[in-house]
Amino acid sequence: MSDTAHSSMRTQVGIVGAGPAGLMLGHLLHLAGIDSVIVEKHNREHVIERVRAGVLEQGTVDVMVNAGVGDRLLREGMRHGGIYLAFLGQRHRIDFEDLAGASITVYGQNEVVKDLIAARYATGRPLYFEARDVRLSGFEDGQPGIHFRSDEKEHEIACDFIAGCDGFHGVCRPSMPSEKWRAYEREYPFGWLGILANVAPSSGELVYSLHQRGFALFSMRSPSVTRLYLQCAPDESLDAWPDDRIWDELLARLGTADGWRPNRGGILQKNVTGMRSFVAEPMCCGRLFLAGDAAHILPPTGAKGLNLAIADVVILSRALAAFYQDRREDLLDSYSVLCLRRAWRAQRFSWWMTSMLHRAPGGDEFDYRRQIAELDYLMSSRAAMTSLAENYVGLPTEQR
Ligand code: APR
Ligand code: PHB
Repeated sequence: MSDTAHSSMRTQVGIVGAGPAGLMLGHLLHLAGIDSVIVEKHNREHVIERVRAGVLEQGTVDVMVNAGVGDRLLREGMRHGGIYLAFLGQRHRIDFEDLAGASITVYGQNEVVKDLIAARYATGRPLYFEARDVRLSGFEDGQPGIHFRSDEKEHEIACDFIAGCDGFHGVCRPSMPSEKWRAYEREYPFGWLGILANVAPSSGELVYSLHQRGFALFSMRSPSVTRLYLQCAPDESLDAWPDDRIWDELLARLGTADGWRPNRGGILQKNVTGMRSFVAEPMCCGRLFLAGDAAHILPPTGAKGLNLAIADVVILSRALAAFYQDRREDLLDSYSVLCLRRAWRAQRFSWWMTSMLHRAPGGDEFDYRRQIAELDYLMSSRAAMTSLAENYVGLPTEQR
């Protein structure tokens, strides 16, 4: 017999993953009086320090504020009423407030996660970091379980439902039998080299630029930290990118004829990410429900990943609340269809922004001129700008 210690517990909803989706779901369930246990593979520092997305739709801000976790976001988040698109050496503004009656808020995903972890601790409800060998069982037979090792103990959580919020590389999606779901996917032939620079942003709003040399994006994290991205190869080695080369390339791709360019400063962090669109259908199997990156990922050009993750868990928390309060299962039954409709609209928008603004490797001049014509048309048409604006600020969350 093994002498490993065992621990068994029971909860209503077992949540795998403490990213924005898992933490926000845990908090929304707490507010509805529903018990949960969150199980996360990495340690707390890792989860908080990963630098990722940074743009929140108004709907996401509203969810945070209404859930009582928006105080710091309202104080420190940077509200932007529009973005710039740059091409042929000129910057052109798209005014979200005028066109779509809404704005966006720049607030790092790691800040969102920090606020949600603090809120979780304040509830006293369980959150396990550094859970090893996480495994699911019984979700097709009405007896869901989550198993993992931590502190030299084998843990077993019996629950009514499992929420798979463990991101694209997690265990939940691959636990679904392959004949019960399918993937729709597109890989793009480029990636983004991202940097965090210790310097004040030189523009109050984001700048998306299509340049002969490739795409570049100017963003920010705070009044003293700039976030910048360059289109690169999906498997680009950072060794080929000393700081000076990064800055030269950023300035070449972003600088405009009016003299605007990003401020140069010390590089705090660099990373390369590939780009992919992915959707799993359906987003559930028995009593397992996927949410966020576990179910879908998008190229970052539309800034939709984090917002979609929050929209999923709002819908899931409502469905679970209807189950526990009124024994209604209809909202759980329609969860996947409702989320997928929004996810596909976000995929469409992100694919469109990505194709309009990136140069295909070895791309021909026809494509570049067509892309410039698309941007030129966009800036000349209020209808086209409105379409971009309403998608960027976020479509309303579907109700049922
Ligand atoms: N067991 C437990 N936790 C796991 C496992 C596992 N086997 N695998 C992964 N995780 C954890 C990860 O360590 C991570 O903390 O699940 C969490 C998933 O978080 P995210 O990847 O941030 O996904 P999500 O919460 O859906 O948020 C989506 O992330 O990639 C961005 O742009 C995307 O902003 C969007 C957001
Ligand atoms: C970011 O600030 O990290 C960011 C902003 C806009 C995007 C993607 C990323 O489209």
